[in-house]
Amino acid sequence: MRLDRFLSETTPLTRSLAKRALKSGEVELNGQPIKQAATQIDPENDSVRWQGEPLALVGLRYVMLNKPLEVECSARRGLYPRAVDLIDLPKAERLKPVGRLDVDTTGLLLLTDDGQWAHRITSPKHRCAKVYRATLASPLEGTAAQRAKEQVAEGLLLDGEEEPTKPATLKLLSSTEAELTITEGRYHQVKRMFGALGNRVESLHRASIGDLVLDANLPPGEWRELTADEIALF
Ligand code: URA
Repeated sequence: MRLDRFLSETTPLTRSLAKRALKSGEVELNGQPIKQAATQIDPENDSVRWQGEPLALVGLRYVMLNKPLEVECSARRGLYPRAVDLIDLPKAERLKPVGRLDVDTTGLLLLTDDGQWAHRITSPKHRCAKVYRATLASPLEGTAAQRAKEQVAEGLLLDGEEEPTKPATLKLLSSTEAELTITEGRYHQVKRMFGALGNRVESLHRASIGDLVLDANLPPGEWRELTADEIALF
């Protein structure tokens, strides 16, 4: 790898600032000052220091965030802070949310720079189950509740779509607290499913993805890296 690229991957420096740092003698390669940006290095075996600090490439990262309200999952800066802005890791902007939660949805959001791992979670082929807790505007009880469970299990036709939703599971925790498990990730899917049932979601929280449950010790807005066992779930 070129030395200036290695510096831009392992420090906050951009490629051109890395070149400047090299020119001004801030970089050492295997104990010797070095100025040539085009020098090829072996990141595994060469020792590079910037301002005396040893540098190493960051590996793949896997993070769970308890997404709070009014945080966006998009890559571009918009009206609200982005999920990635809450993650205090070097080069955090390289982390991508695994699927999206709406700005007013809370709960389990995964972020990673491992595209293949993310794909195993989001690809419809893998049918990864996601559990959402919804507070409903209208109470769902009695035969209406039973009918709603059957409709969800059979599949619902959402506004503007031709394919019904894949079989899903609706559990009622109370007349206005529902737990919906889906294996797809269509646009605003949970809210639209309750809309198709003639109801409205007032608040929405994602509790789990596959066998990975949101850590109960993470308050809203807090994050932690996944353990090796958690990464291996997908
Ligand atoms: N379904 C929704 O409607 N919103 C979300 O944020 C996630 C799933």
